[in-house]
Amino acid sequence: MSEIIIEPVTRIEGHAKITIFLDDAGEVRDAHFHVTQVRGFERIAQGRPVHEMPSLMARICGICPVSHLVASAKACDEVLGVSVPPVAVRLRRVINLAQIVQSHALSFFHLSSPDLLLGFDSDPAARNITGVAEHAPELARDGIALRKFGQQIIERLGGKRVHPAWVVPGGVSAPLQPDQRDAILATIPDARARAIRALNWFKANLADWAEEAARFGSFPSLYMGLVHETGNAAYSDGELRIVDQRGKRLLDGGDPKRYEEYFGESVEPWSYLKSTYYKPMGYPEGIYRVGPLARLNVVDQLGTEAADQELAEYRARLGRYPNSSFHYHWARLIEIVHCIDMVEELLADPDILGSDVRARAAINRTEGVGVSEAPRGTLFHHYKVDQDGIVQWVNLVIATGHNNLAMNRSVAQVAKHYVKGADVREGALNRVEAVIRTYDPCLSCSTHAVGQMPMEVDIVDPDGAVVRRLSRDGG
Ligand code: MG
Ligand code: NI
Repeated sequence: MSEIIIEPVTRIEGHAKITIFLDDAGEVRDAHFHVTQVRGFERIAQGRPVHEMPSLMARICGICPVSHLVASAKACDEVLGVSVPPVAVRLRRVINLAQIVQSHALSFFHLSSPDLLLGFDSDPAARNITGVAEHAPELARDGIALRKFGQQIIERLGGKRVHPAWVVPGGVSAPLQPDQRDAILATIPDARARAIRALNWFKANLADWAEEAARFGSFPSLYMGLVHETGNAAYSDGELRIVDQRGKRLLDGGDPKRYEEYFGESVEPWSYLKSTYYKPMGYPEGIYRVGPLARLNVVDQLGTEAADQELAEYRARLGRYPNSSFHYHWARLIEIVHCIDMVEELLADPDILGSDVRARAAINRTEGVGVSEAPRGTLFHHYKVDQDGIVQWVNLVIATGHNNLAMNRSVAQVAKHYVKGADVREGALNRVEAVIRTYDPCLSCSTHAVGQMPMEVDIVDPDGAVVRRLSRDGG
C-alpha cells in the first residue's frame, strides 16, 4: 500500500493533512483529509460564568470570530430566557453579514483565485495574491477592498476588528450611531460594484474550469442551511432546512435547539475532527454539505434584488441543485453580493438607530443552544450551566465538521482522477488541496486552535511507508 500525504495544504486556515493511499498498481485506493490538532475550547469554558462565553468563544477563531459571537450570544439568550430587542437582532445580522463578506473575500480572492486565474498547474511560487496582482491587478484590488469593507463594518460596530465584545447576551452592548451608519452606507456602492465585477469575471471564465468542476467533489448529497419563514436566506436567525439533491425537504422549519435529534457525530480514527451526518439516514449515507453551495440550494431565493438576479443565472446554468463543490466559489461570490445588499437594506431602515438594544436578566434556564451561519456553514453552540450560571458543559458543532464527510469524499475523488503513483505532478497535488479550499474549511475553528497552521500531503505505499511528502508553509 502506498500513501501520498499533502501536509501542509497551503492557503487554508489552520492545520490539517491529506493522506493518499496507493494500491500495488500505484492507483489511488483512498484518500483522507485529517485535522491533527485540538485545543479544546469546550473544556476551557467549563467553570466560567456564562456571560463570559461570547467574548471567550470569539477567540476560537481569528477568521470567523463574529459567527461564534452570534451563536454564543444566542445560546446565552436562552440561558437568560430573554427576548432580544428587535433592533439588536438586526444589528447582530449586520455584523455577521460583514463577517461573511470579509471571510468570503479572503477565501475567494486570496486563497482560490490564484488557481483560477493562473492555472492549477502554474508555478507554485507565483500562485498567490501577489501573482494575481501582477496578472489581474483589478481582481486583486477588488479582493483586498472587499475584505476591508467587511472588516471596517466590524470595527465600526464592534470597536475592535478581531474580537469585538459588542455582541453580548441579551443583545448588543451599544446602539448604532448615525455617523457610523452613514459611514458604512457610503461604502456600499463601491463594494457592490467590485463584487459584481468579480462575479462577471468568474462567469466569463467558467468554461475554462469544466474539468475541475466535474471532479471537485461532484456527487449528490444533502444540503443544510438556515432559512427564514419567507424562504429567504437567513444567517443569524431562521430555522434549519435540509434538502436532498432533488430538492426534497427532509427537514423544514427545524428547530436549531433540537440539533442532536437531527445530527449524529462519528469519530474517524484518522482525525480529531468529528464527522456529522443526518441522523435519520445514518452514517455515512447521511452525508450533507453546509456553506455557500448548500445555502443557495436550500433557499427559495436569497431575498435581495441584485443577488437574486445572480442566483437565477447560477441556477439557469448549473441546474436548480448544483452538486459539485467547485461551485462553492460561484455561490460564495453571489453571497458577497447578497450580504452587501442586506447590510444596505438593514441600515436604510431608520429604526436601526433605536436605543433599546439589550435585554437584561438573571439566569433563568440551565441550558441554551445558539446557531448562526458562519461563512463556511452552520455553527451550533450548546451550553449547560448550573443555577449560578457557571458553565458545566459545552458542545460546539462547527461548519467544517458538518462538511467533513464531504471533504473526505471530495479529496478521494480528486486524488483518484489526478494522482497515479508517487511520481505525481505538483499541479495534481495542488488540485487535491484546491478541492479542500472550495469548502474554505476554517481549521482555526476545526481544531479550536488559534492562528494559522500549515497542512501536508503524504503519499503512502501499500506497506504504509510515506513515499512522498509535500510540505509547504501555511498562511
Ligand atoms: Mg463538539
Ligand atoms: Ni473559524
